[in-house]
Amino acid sequence: MRQRIRKTPDQLRSARWFAPDDLRSFGHRSRMMQLGFSEDDFRGRPIIGVLNTWSELNTCHAHFRDRVVDVKRGVQLSGGLAVEMPSLSVDESFTKPTSMLYRNMLAMETEEMIRSHPLDGVVLMGGCDKTTPGLVMGAISAGVPMIYLPAGPMLRGNYAGKVLGSGSDAWKYWDERRAGNVSDAEWLGVQGGIARSAGTCMTMGTAATMMSIAEALGLTLPGASSIPAVDSGHQRMSADCGRRIVDMVWEDLTPDEIVTPAAVRNAAIVAMATGCSTNAVVHLIAIARRADVDLTLDDLDALGRVTPLIANVRPSGKDYLMEDFYYAGGLRALMKELEDRLDGSALTVTGRPMAENLVGAEVYNPDVIRSLSNPVYSEGSLAVLRGNLCPDGAVIKPAACDPAFHVHEGPALVFDSYPEMKAAVDDETLDVTPDHVMVLRNAGPQGGPGFPEWGMLPIPKALIKKGHRDMLRISDARMSGTSYGACVLHVAPESYVGGPLALLRTGDIVRLDLPARRLDMLVDEAEIERRRAAWTPPEPRFERGWGWMFSRHVTQADQGCDFTFLQADFGRAAGEPDI
Ligand code: FES
Ligand code: MG
Repeated sequence: MRQRIRKTPDQLRSARWFAPDDLRSFGHRSRMMQLGFSEDDFRGRPIIGVLNTWSELNTCHAHFRDRVVDVKRGVQLSGGLAVEMPSLSVDESFTKPTSMLYRNMLAMETEEMIRSHPLDGVVLMGGCDKTTPGLVMGAISAGVPMIYLPAGPMLRGNYAGKVLGSGSDAWKYWDERRAGNVSDAEWLGVQGGIARSAGTCMTMGTAATMMSIAEALGLTLPGASSIPAVDSGHQRMSADCGRRIVDMVWEDLTPDEIVTPAAVRNAAIVAMATGCSTNAVVHLIAIARRADVDLTLDDLDALGRVTPLIANVRPSGKDYLMEDFYYAGGLRALMKELEDRLDGSALTVTGRPMAENLVGAEVYNPDVIRSLSNPVYSEGSLAVLRGNLCPDGAVIKPAACDPAFHVHEGPALVFDSYPEMKAAVDDETLDVTPDHVMVLRNAGPQGGPGFPEWGMLPIPKALIKKGHRDMLRISDARMSGTSYGACVLHVAPESYVGGPLALLRTGDIVRLDLPARRLDMLVDEAEIERRRAAWTPPEPRFERGWGWMFSRHVTQADQGCDFTFLQADFGRAAGEPDI
């Protein structure tokens, strides 16, 4: 059990701004009074920054405008002062070219907003895909007490009596529409029914995966990640976050005590058991590195091999959605099932070890949250491949792809850009067979740019019309956590920086051997070397601005795509040990 300490008011970080009897502090105090606060409101009390990623264009955080009131209520009832700090609202629905281009921007903003202001602790309000890792990475580096408030999933989709899942069903109905099987009226019905309330995507996509990971890391209140966004339980959880962060400040419970190797391992195991989004790999590695924890693709592959997938939630699971997962007991129940495999001593934001947070957790529907003896799949949420096409790794989700493709050999059909590929797949005369291996390159962290979710390459119309719905696809892109299919992703190094994918040609034979974790082009070494010598790097994509900075400093997929200059030692600058 962690030794409880109790800070005194003069030890608060904010006291550095407000306590000294000098001219500068006079200025700080007078400006707080300008804001309408009395001395008693801000002196000697924990000042809690509520980092709110709400925006009118962030569909998944639409309820945060109201939820922040609940958080502030909790803070204030516990004797702190809450201040809302609007933060970069990286939304998945509208951000072009891809929200991933801005994850690190949110991480940097989070860290610097905390560092530069008189805050003793923070509540991080996020949930839509990149916001969870962005906020958590930044707050780990800032190092003040923090608690993560997950947005929670939206209600399940519904159209004409059918349940609709975010992403997954959009792709499915789109394939059917391309095949001529869905009318305009039906299409409009699906459009209106697939996202019915505030909250994140309600399949086990990147958002639900990352919120679960935050909980498994110990960064949320127990059970917080599964509560649907519009449930009144979500309001109560929000107020509880406010209450708890005040105590965390007095206890000086900082993220370095929570995000330990044990917590990261717990999070990886939980991710595998949920059938996590492939994006989790990139984000969890980046989060771990911020905390100085070494997590590699090989660690994740090893855990993927032995961890059964027990959340029967789409897209890896077959039948259910996040709302069902909540009613079935939520993440605490899933973690209870995994308890023997987790390190129960890992400290959490409650100030107590994980094992205590799981006491009393129960599975209410064993078809949604399966037992270890009756899993959805006995292994295989994620697998990491190596070979002459991906020397630094690539990722595939075996559970989401047709087993017929687990061992596959076929001729490559290579595209250099997304528009080129799109034109080809819509061409009904395209010369393609189900054995072909579709390849998209220049879609990685630098080539994309920003590592877009293009990895679920559309099946060519010519095959769709013949009834085919899956084929082997390879790219250096990511794919949406709600996607599915035989898609090899995150090929590293990416083609844009000269990875071997850049050397592949249409017609070369590609071989996937999933049980052996291999992905190779069957081209002899001398020929590969000839092609390498002839390869010339593409022009830089950005001459200025954020894109230029991103391209210069982003690491490859296997390294987490953080910036090289942000990855270490809790981010504390020399000479600034006590931010
Ligand atoms: Fe926000 Fe899917 S669009 S979680
Ligand atoms: Mg997504």
